[in-house]
Amino acid sequence: MILLFSFFLALIFGGPAFAENSTITPQNGTEIDYGPDPMELEIRQDPRCLPGCFFETNILGSWWLEDFPQNCTTVCAPFGFRIDGQTDLSEKQLTEILKNMKNVIAFQFAVTHTRFKNTHFLAKLETVDCYDVGTFMHSINYRMEDIGLLNLSNVSCNIDIGTNNNMTRLNLPQLNLVHSPYANYSSFTVSVSYNHPDFCITVPEMLKFMVYNDTNFEWMIGDYCRLSNNSELLSQKYCDVRDTPLEVMASDCLKIVGNLLIDEKNQNFVGKLANVDTIFGNLIIRNTNLTDTNFLGSLITIMSMREGEPVILIENNPELRNVTIPKFVKYHAPQTHVPVQMYNNSAELSKTSKFCYDLQNQLTDTMTWIVRINGLVCDYIQRDIDAEIARQTRDNLGSGRSVVFLMGIFVLNILF
Ligand SMILES: *[C@@H]1O[C@H](CO)[C@@H](O)[C@H](O)[C@H]1NC(C)=O
Ligand SMILES: *[C@@H]1O[C@H](CO)[C@@H](O)[C@H](O)[C@H]1NC(C)=O
Ligand SMILES: *[C@@H]1O[C@H](CO)[C@@H](O)[C@H](O)[C@H]1NC(C)=O
Ligand SMILES: *[C@@H]1O[C@H](CO)[C@@H](O)[C@H](O)[C@H]1NC(C)=O
Ligand SMILES: *[C@@H]1O[C@H](CO)[C@@H](O)[C@H](O)[C@H]1NC(C)=O
Ligand SMILES: *[C@@H]1O[C@H](CO)[C@@H](O)[C@H](O)[C@H]1NC(C)=O
Ligand SMILES: *[C@@H]1O[C@H](CO)[C@@H](O)[C@H](O)[C@H]1NC(C)=O
Ligand SMILES: *[C@@H]1O[C@H](CO)[C@@H](O)[C@H](O)[C@H]1NC(C)=O
Ligand SMILES: *[C@@H]1O[C@H](CO)[C@@H](O)[C@H](O)[C@H]1NC(C)=O
Ligand SMILES: *[C@@H]1O[C@H](CO)[C@@H](O)[C@H](O)[C@H]1NC(C)=O
Ligand SMILES: *[C@@H]1O[C@H](CO)[C@@H](O)[C@H](O)[C@H]1NC(C)=O
Ligand SMILES: *[C@@H]1O[C@H](CO)[C@@H](O)[C@H](O)[C@H]1NC(C)=O
Repeated sequence: MILLFSFFLALIFGGPAFAENSTITPQNGTEIDYGPDPMELEIRQDPRCLPGCFFETNILGSWWLEDFPQNCTTVCAPFGFRIDGQTDLSEKQLTEILKNMKNVIAFQFAVTHTRFKNTHFLAKLETVDCYDVGTFMHSINYRMEDIGLLNLSNVSCNIDIGTNNNMTRLNLPQLNLVHSPYANYSSFTVSVSYNHPDFCITVPEMLKFMVYNDTNFEWMIGDYCRLSNNSELLSQKYCDVRDTPLEVMASDCLKIVGNLLIDEKNQNFVGKLANVDTIFGNLIIRNTNLTDTNFLGSLITIMSMREGEPVILIENNPELRNVTIPKFVKYHAPQTHVPVQMYNNSAELSKTSKFCYDLQNQLTDTMTWIVRINGLVCDYIQRDIDAEIARQTRDNLGSGRSVVFLMGIFVLNILF
C-alpha cells in the first residue's frame, strides 16, 4: 500500500497539473492521504463515464468482484486498471467478468506479474484511453507468449511492453496509437523491450507506433518479423532483405525491412537503394571499394531494434571519401551511445570535419557525441585539423626563417 501511495504521490507532483484546486478530502480506511489525484478528478468528469460504470479500486481481484461494473461496455477506473500478481481470479472468471468491457478509461492499464499465457480474457477490449499521459503496460509476465488482443484498436496511452521472458509476438494487429479524443495532454513514449530472445514486432505494428513524429521511442529491442509473402506492404514497395537480398531485390523499393549489409559481394547493386527512405533495421557498409554514399540520397529514417549497436556502421572501405546522406534525420538506436560510426575508410574522410558535422547537425541540436569517425567526435576531428594547420604554419614559419638566415649568409658572403 505504501508503494501504491508513493506512486500516486509521484503522479500528483511529477505529472502534468490538471486541477487547479485539488483540496485534500479525508478518505476512510487509508493510512496516508494525499487527496484526490488530478487524473481521478478528470476521469470522474469525463462524459463517457456513466454512473455505475466506475471501477473503484485499482487491482482486479475476488475481493471487489461484487462491485465490478460487469454490465458496462465502458469502464472508468479513476485509480487505474490492474491485473497483477495479487489478482486471484482464473482466466475463466476474468473472461466472465470482462465479457462486456470494450472501452477502458484509466490513467493506467496494466497486466503485470501474472502467470497468464495471453490476455484473451480481454478479447472484447477495443479502446484504452489514458488521456495520453498514462501507460498501457504489459510487463513481467514470465509465461506470456503474446498479448493477443485482436480487437484492440485505439490506445491513447504510453506503451510499455517489457520483460515478458516468453513473449515472441505482440499480436496486436489492430492497435492504433491515437491521441485521446477527450483529454489530449501529451506526446507518447513507446517501449517494447527485453521479451523473448526471438521476439519480433511486425512492421504494421511498428508503423502504428510511428504515426506521430513526436513519439519518443524509448526502448525498442528485438527484431522485425519477416514480411509475410501475402503482406499488403509488398505492394507498397516494402522489401525484406532477408527474403530478397540486395542482389535479387527489386530496384524500386521504398522501405527496407531487415538489417542491410553492403559488402564486396553486393556493392554493385547499391543503385537499387536510390528510392529507399526508411530502413527497419541497421545499415552496415563494409569491405567495399565504393567511393561515396550518394546511393542513399532518399534515406530519411533508420529504426534499429538492436541493443547497443550503431544504426549506421561504415568500415574498411578504403576508397570511400565522401559520406553524405543528405536527408537522413531520424533514427532509433536503443541503448546506443554512438549511433553513427565510421572506421578505416579513406583518410579523406578525416581531412575535413564537414561529413561528421553535416550528419550530426541533421540528427541533433545538442548531442555532440553521436557521430564518430575513427573513434573521434566531430569536435575532435576539427581540433586535430586545427592542430595540423597550426603545426604546418609553424613549420612554414620555421623554414621561412631558415631561408632568411641562408640569404643572410649569402649576402654576407657577397659582401666579404
Ligand atoms: C477551490 O475550492 C474552494 C472550496 O471548495 C472554492 O471556494 C474555490 O473557489 C476553489 N478555487 C478554484 C480556483 O477553483
Ligand atoms: C468516513 O468516516 C466518517 C466518520 O468517521 C463517516 O461519517 C463517513 O460516512 C465515512 N465515509 C465513508 C465514505 O465511508
Ligand atoms: C447486469 O445484467 C444482468 C443481466 O442482464 C442483470 O441481471 C444484472 O442485474 C445487471 N447488473 C447490474 C449491476 O446492473
Ligand atoms: C472482434 O470484432 C469483430 C468485428 O467487429 C467481432 O465480430 C468479434 O466478435 C470481436 N471479437 C470479440 C472477441 O469480441
Ligand atoms: C514458453 O512458451 C513455450 C511455447 O511457446 C512453452 O512451451 C513454454 O512452456 C513456455 N514457458 C513458460 C515458462 O511458460
Ligand atoms: C479511433 O480513432 C480514430 C481517429 O481518432 C477514430 O476515427 C475512430 O472512430 C476511433 N475508433 C474507436 C473504436 O474509437
Ligand atoms: C492533440 O493535440 C495535438 C497538439 O496539441 C493536436 O495536433 C492534435 O490534433 C490533438 N488531437 C486530438 C484528438 O485532439
Ligand atoms: C514528420 O516527419 C517527416 C519526416 O521528417 C516529415 O516529412 C513530416 O512532415 C512530419 N510530419 C509532421 C506532421 O510534422
Ligand atoms: C516467402 O517466400 C519465399 C520464397 O518462396 C520464402 O523463401 C520465404 O521464406 C517466404 N517468407 C515467409 C515469411 O514465409
Ligand atoms: C571494386 O572491387 C571489385 C571486386 O573486388 C572489382 O571487381 C572492381 O574492379 C573494383 N572497382 C574499382 C573501381 O576498383
Ligand atoms: C582496414 O581496411 C582494409 C581494407 O578493407 C583492411 O584490409 C584492413 O584489415 C582494415 N584494418 C583494420 C584495422 O580493420
Ligand atoms: C560529396 O558528395 C555530395 C553529393 O554528391 C556532394 O554534394 C559534395 O560536394 C561531395 N563532397 C566532397 C567533399 O566531395
